[in-house]
Formats: sequence, structure tokens, C-alpha cells
Amino acid sequence: MGLNKKSVDDINVKGRRVLVRCDFNVPLKNGVITDETRINAALPTINKLIKDGGKVILCSHLGKVKEGPNEKESLAPVAKKLSEKLGKEVVFVSDYNVTGEAATKAVAAMKEGDVVLLQNTRFRGSEETKNGEAFSKELADLADDYVCDAFGSSHRAHASVEGVTKFIKAKGGNNCVGYLMQKEIEFLGNAVENPVRPFVAILGGAKVADKLNVIDNLLEKADTLIIGGGMAFTFLKAQGYEIGKSLCDDEKLDYCKEMMAKAEKLGKKLLLPIDTTIAKAFPDPIDGPIEVSVVDSDKIPADMMGLDIGTKTMELFANEAKSAKTVVWNGPMGVFENPTLATGTIAVAKALADADATTIIGGGDSAAAVVQLGFSDKMSHISTGGGASLEYLEGKVLPGIDVIQDK
Ligand code: 3PG
Ligand code: MG
Repeated sequence: MGLNKKSVDDINVKGRRVLVRCDFNVPLKNGVITDETRINAALPTINKLIKDGGKVILCSHLGKVKEGPNEKESLAPVAKKLSEKLGKEVVFVSDYNVTGEAATKAVAAMKEGDVVLLQNTRFRGSEETKNGEAFSKELADLADDYVCDAFGSSHRAHASVEGVTKFIKAKGGNNCVGYLMQKEIEFLGNAVENPVRPFVAILGGAKVADKLNVIDNLLEKADTLIIGGGMAFTFLKAQGYEIGKSLCDDEKLDYCKEMMAKAEKLGKKLLLPIDTTIAKAFPDPIDGPIEVSVVDSDKIPADMMGLDIGTKTMELFANEAKSAKTVVWNGPMGVFENPTLATGTIAVAKALADADATTIIGGGDSAAAVVQLGFSDKMSHISTGGGASLEYLEGKVLPGIDVIQDK
């Protein structure tokens, strides 16, 4: 898919103040960033703007900020990490007001190539998350141009993603995308709109309800749709199988039947687990020891629970992935946090690593699994978006992309 949006390559930022929305929503443990993927992914755009002599004003949300501004959700650790990675000072405006006097002063003091990071945009509460006009304008007032490079947040019509663009546009500034946005849209967009076939989509994760639209859309776009993970059991039950104590979305049984009928009508292959790794109960703690056995999917005892795909299924799914030219994968095959129950997810990750195909990992849990299991450099693309990549694969228009001006 050709992205017809204005990008950082199409504007001249020399001497101009450029507000860049990043997704620096990184996991933190005791103030330490435990996964730097999203910071690394933002560097190409930031470095380009520095090199071109822009005044680079970065902003992002972090966490959900449910109880108002607080130090635990401050972007301070990100400022420090960014400064290390860019090899230059990043002036952090720690003011909880985000755009207040402190921000205005810091920006006024900027020289070409300087970098400022504003405080967590969600510290402004619903002004950010409800796309408030006043906050949107305050953000826009700090800058001349706006760059969205926050793919992971582009499904949110928030002030720093959407509202701000209106005010930048009103004063004749540019609204464009950064390199990360371009890359994400190129990989995900190509897979869905223009895939090299055979195109195999693999979906997993716990709940059918979370994936309704993506199942529907990928069934139309892909040649083969593979369903594993917790949500496969609702499909198995819809086929009339006993699934014991396995996870089930009873309200979605009809939906599963509908999807199976749709696959048949479209002549698409819909693969479900033919065997299942079962145990007496969910592991507690989640990574604790657990006794398992493998049975055919139509022989799950009533008092047992399916927690991973079985060995025959691993082979079935792996062979399908290896025969593909494009693979999109979103959602683990089992409880991958547990070493005994990670086997199915590892088998799929290995198959993708070995496949002579463009392999795309939707963000969230599947990206975490691929990174945790050590396969990240074997994949063509690992999305930095969880919800955003899912909504993109559903075929939805993402507000953060929609508001960027065309070339
Ligand atoms: C994410 O981590 O999925 C993005 O940063 C968006 O965060 P949100 O789900 O809190 O809006
Ligand atoms: Mg999320």
C-alpha cells in the first residue's frame, strides 16, 4: 500500500519548532525501563529532525494515569534514556501541566537541533483523552509543525494525537508522519491490502471477543486463517466438542459458527487445534510447575483445561506458516508465560523464523512473546502497536493516521 501522507522527508524544519508525538509508553519496574523497543523505534525520526536543524519538542503519554499526575508515571526515565541514546541533552520539562509556562520557556530557549521532552500528556486527564480543544491548542502553540510517530497511540483520538493537528493546520503548519509510522503502515498495510500469497494469518490470545473484527477481516484477506490460544476453545465448542474447563466465550458461540460458515463459503482454510495440551487447572503461580498431557481436541475430559496447542497442531501450524509468503501473527498459542505451556508459541515463532516469507508480528502479547523467546531479529517486522496494530488489521481507519495531510 502506498502511503500518500506527508512525511518528515517532505518538510523543511530548519529553525522551526517541531512537535513530535511519540509512543514512549514503555514498561517500567521500580523506575527502570524494562523494554526499550519503543524508544529505539522513535530514534530515526528524532535524529533526522535534529540533523535538519529543527527544534525538536517530544511528547507522549505513559501508563493510564488513573489517579492523576504522579512521579511513577512521569516521563523522567524516558528523558534520561533518550539522552543516552541520542548522545545529547534532552531537556525534560517535568511540570505536570505539560504545556504551561515551564514548557513555553524551555521551547523559547531552544536552538536548532535541541531536544525538549514534555511531561506525560495524560497528566492533563480528560483534556488529553477526550481530545480537549484548549489542551490541543496549547500543544499546537508550542510548535510550528507536527509529526506523528506514535503508531502505538494512533488508534486514540486524543489531543496530542488528533486535536493538535487542527490548530497546526489552522496556522499553516505541516502535519506529517515520521519514519516509524511509515514503516508500520507499510508492513501492516501491505500485508492486508496487497500481500504476496499465500497469506497466512495466525491469531491467538485469550478471548474471541477481543478479536471479532480482526477474525472477520483477515478471513476475507488471508488464504488461511489459523486460530490457536485460549480463543480456539470457543470455536471447538461451537463445533460441538467437549472442551472441559477450558476458556470459553459462551456469548460468542454463534459468532464462531458464523465465521466457520463464512470460511467455507469463501473457500478459505480455517485451521483450529487438532490436539491440545491439557492440565487440571490454570498454573498458579503462572510460571509455576504444572503437570500436562496432550489429547486430541475432541477428547478433552470434562474436568480438564486446555492451556496450549498440542504437538500435532504445532506441526500443522508450522507447516502452514512455512508454506506462506506472508504471515501475520497476533496472539500467543497458549500460556507462554509458563515454560511448560510456551511450547506451542515457541513452535509457531520458530516456524515464522524459518519461513521464507514476510513475517509480521502484531504488537502486544505476541510481540512480547517473540522478544522474550529470543526470535525478534528473525522477523521482518514487529509492530510497536498493540491495540493500534489490531485495529489496523481490522481494517479500521486510525484517527492518528487519518488526520495527517496527504502529500
Ligand atoms: C499501548 O501501549 O497500547 C499504547 O501506548 C496505547 O496505550 P493505551 O492503550 O493506554 O491507550
Ligand atoms: Mg493498550
